[in-house]
Amino acid sequence: QKVDLTIDEIDKGNFEHFMLKEIYEQPISIEDTFRGRIAMDHSKIFLGGISDVMPQLSQARRIIIAACGTSWHAGIVGEYLFEEFARIPVEVEYASEFRYRNPIINEDDVIIAISQSGETADTLAAIKMAKEHGATIIGICNVAGSSIPRETHAGVYTHAGVEIGVASTKAFTSQVTVLTMMALLLGKTKGHLKDSVYKELINELTQVPDKIRAILKAETDIKQIADTYKDANNALYLGRGFLFPVALEGALKLKEISYIHAEGYPAAEMKHGPIALIDENMPVFVLATKDKSYEKIVSNIQEVKARNGKVIAIVTEGDEVIKKMADHVIEVPDCHEAIAPLLTCVPLQFISYHIAVMRGCNVDQPRNLAKSVTVE
Ligand code: G6P
Repeated sequence: QKVDLTIDEIDKGNFEHFMLKEIYEQPISIEDTFRGRIAMDHSKIFLGGISDVMPQLSQARRIIIAACGTSWHAGIVGEYLFEEFARIPVEVEYASEFRYRNPIINEDDVIIAISQSGETADTLAAIKMAKEHGATIIGICNVAGSSIPRETHAGVYTHAGVEIGVASTKAFTSQVTVLTMMALLLGKTKGHLKDSVYKELINELTQVPDKIRAILKAETDIKQIADTYKDANNALYLGRGFLFPVALEGALKLKEISYIHAEGYPAAEMKHGPIALIDENMPVFVLATKDKSYEKIVSNIQEVKARNGKVIAIVTEGDEVIKKMADHVIEVPDCHEAIAPLLTCVPLQFISYHIAVMRGCNVDQPRNLAKSVTVE
């Protein structure tokens, strides 16, 4: 039997684009990220790559996370995780701003560089500068042996596998997985996390691949929502707490591959600007899973509906309240709020992917963008 496939098609398997393949790989890529790093009985996290710098990390006066693009969004999730579980102050910096503004860096600061490629010029320059100031440098990178890991004192590889799509998907969820493991380990080491809570959160983390598998099954429904909004000129993404960075990431995904102008905002900040843009043509994606800001996000949805905006809400399975208010809901399985970024980003990846395909855009190679930005 003659098999007539090009190399590209083989690499993509049965998927039309690398981005779609990489979205579907996430249950496996996340498992690869925690393979060998979580005890079989879910009682412990081991991160061999940073064991030598655990003293510096647990005594750090602050953590500075430096990154660009999607990795910077993962960094904000990291900020919320480290502050919540390890009670260490965190600053998240665009590497390009950090390196040029004469920042204050002390020897007891820990810098975490997050980079899929390990080659981003600004992130590399930022850690070189911080190293000269005597700070401890940790990398969270995907590409083994790339430039950033070679400059760091320690690090944790994400092991997400090769990512081809310019718009990052599985690398992002693996970065967030590493940050979650680091925050939990640090919280435990510093005595801020009770053993029972630590174990419960580890357990939650190990359930993520199966929960993502459940979300992937909703692709056809999500595609229909994409079809409804494919001709939008603008889109707004709102989230609070752990889901604020997911709003930023959702907006970035849409703008980079479909060329629709999109903005991510902390939901409460909407009334300081974006609310002026809301009318019947504005799709508003709201991250509204059950967490401590649930009531507040429900009010934000009402504010959008009062101005005739179209609400597409990402909700916890079984939510009946938001279903009555929103134009569309996409359900994700119930989880701890700190785990929710890993689940809620997936429907937004599908939305961007399908809108971009419907608009005839080059999903894997969007115009003007590069996978790895090695020039400043
Ligand atoms: C480029 C890519 C993005 C990526 C960013 C940072 O803009 O298109 O997908 O998030 O660079 O790249 P890095 O390799 O450092 O994570």
